Amino acid sequence: ARLFVNASAGRVIPETLFGIFFEEINHAGAGGIWGELVNNRGFEAGGPNTPSNIDPWSIIGDGSSLTVSTDRSSCFERNKVALKMEVLCNSKGNNICRAGGVGIYNPGFWGMNIEQGKTYKVVLYVRSLGSINISVSLTDSNGLQTLATANIIASASDVLNWTKAEVLLEAQGTNHNSRLQLTTSQRGVIWFDQVSAMPLDTYKGHGFRNELVEMLADIKPRFIRFPGGCFVEGEWLRNAFRWKETIGPWEERPGHFGDVLYWTDDGLGYFEFLQLAEDLGALPVWVFNNGISHQDQVDTSTISPFVQEALDGIEFAQGDCGSKWGSIRAAMGHPEPFDLRYVAVGNEDCGKKNYQGNYLKFYDAIKHAYPDIKIISNCDGSSRSLDHPADYYDFHVYTSANNLFSMVHKFDRTSRNGPKAFVSEYAVTGKDAGTGSLLAALAEAAFLIGLEKNSDVVEMASYAPLFVHVNDRRWNPDAIVFNSSHQYGTPSYWVQRFFMDSSGATLLNSTLQINSSTLLVASAIIWQDSVDSKSYLKIKIVNFGSNTVSLKISIEGLEDNSIQQSGSTKTLLTSANLMDENTFKEPNKVGPMQSLLDNAGKDMDVVLLPFSLTSFDLLTE
Ligand code: AHR
Repeated sequence: ARLFVNASAGRVIPETLFGIFFEEINHAGAGGIWGELVNNRGFEAGGPNTPSNIDPWSIIGDGSSLTVSTDRSSCFERNKVALKMEVLCNSKGNNICRAGGVGIYNPGFWGMNIEQGKTYKVVLYVRSLGSINISVSLTDSNGLQTLATANIIASASDVLNWTKAEVLLEAQGTNHNSRLQLTTSQRGVIWFDQVSAMPLDTYKGHGFRNELVEMLADIKPRFIRFPGGCFVEGEWLRNAFRWKETIGPWEERPGHFGDVLYWTDDGLGYFEFLQLAEDLGALPVWVFNNGISHQDQVDTSTISPFVQEALDGIEFAQGDCGSKWGSIRAAMGHPEPFDLRYVAVGNEDCGKKNYQGNYLKFYDAIKHAYPDIKIISNCDGSSRSLDHPADYYDFHVYTSANNLFSMVHKFDRTSRNGPKAFVSEYAVTGKDAGTGSLLAALAEAAFLIGLEKNSDVVEMASYAPLFVHVNDRRWNPDAIVFNSSHQYGTPSYWVQRFFMDSSGATLLNSTLQINSSTLLVASAIIWQDSVDSKSYLKIKIVNFGSNTVSLKISIEGLEDNSIQQSGSTKTLLTSANLMDENTFKEPNKVGPMQSLLDNAGKDMDVVLLPFSLTSFDLLTE
């Protein structure tokens, strides 16, 4: 087999080609990248009516020492439920409280990760009929070992009305399965609301879990599509993500029960998504609800409040401080506009009764007010032209490995005249994928090479879904698996690292000469490292067959000796078995293996292992 690369002929790949799609699914955000440790911090998850289920809060003590109930006495108008704790025992007398006191605890999202030496900020709102002496503690999952503790002591007059209390807890030990306890040994009635515990050490200080966001940063995403997915639509419109409910002081956000079948308090809201995009150096791609959920739809004749909501959302992101919504963003700590350039009108709604009508209302209003904003339609324009105006169209594909591999040419024949393609969700799913197999990843790598080659019409692409909390696997596979304290990339995650330098690179003309039974797909790019300005010629090849392939690579269009032996490397992704996956025990079982290249040059004989992805990175002068 032969591969010819012409280093003097090519075209520039869009700067935006490879990004990420963050959606709230599998507890990706709540209990995932968002650092909040308390699950159901405002006691609203059981619904707005009382008595309300306070799950996963639990009670420390028995019925003779305390009763716990909910009422609607909160000082926060948009989330009225508060927790009322009547303590019947005391530190002395005939009903003495158990050692350590009685109260409530929250186990977070399947355990809180508390690490020795780190500081956690606990904020809560409290009210009482008398004086209070409450211990705020981080403990192990049984409450036996205390990792950090502090007391909130106040006189009756100080807590007669709702009062904000704040403590900093420095952990004296590490436990990945900890809980937060609020306990007392003093008889009385206490109300709690909006109890938050956040680590002080978060990504760029903005509330995100460091290690998870670092994994995103490591693949250099050029955009981040958010916040869903189905999460944007909602099973019913009442479950949809509506941005105005997710901004402002966290205590005042109502939270919502998403289509994902769990409660989100929306601490990770619209502002935080925009902040995350900025922190990652990625362009935000905001998907908003267009009046359509999975089950119900707003008629086009009454869609204008949704249109106004979208316009206001754009103003919130990019309006100046003098504008109504821009001033609210500024008050939240970001006076400079966010670089919002892309919005998507809904998610997977094309074909639904009101999509076309609603879409046009959004399109016209946004183009009128913000002519530079690029608008993404849900209707697939890859095979036939759209019957409505758009800058981009969404293309989603979840399929078997063989199917995705064969889609390497999917966009070869797509019209070059219409809107550009945004492959905003792609993945191998089903039995080929399991919870993240090598087989799935290789098919995806081939598909991405196809996208690189068609990047004159495909301008953006992102894998889906991005995250899964191992205790809430609602969708398989996913790119990054995590629990409270650890994380690893599936092979599909690692494939994305092979493509992280493609955006903005130059795609070179390359031709494979292979027989029909050889399943090779290849591309070549030249990219420049922005840190040291070095140039690399990168050749990526997927061998999707079960045989080892000997390949002769010939590169023309470069000066003699311009390829440097030293500094040139080969990176391989393969494994003993096609269905091999990574796990917490073996997080790098299927991960990139880098070695030095000892035959770097314009003519190279290389060996491609069966079922492998290989990248040859040639340092050029
Ligand atoms: O990525 C998982 C889901 O797949 C997304 O929420 C939705 O857009 C698609 O159906």
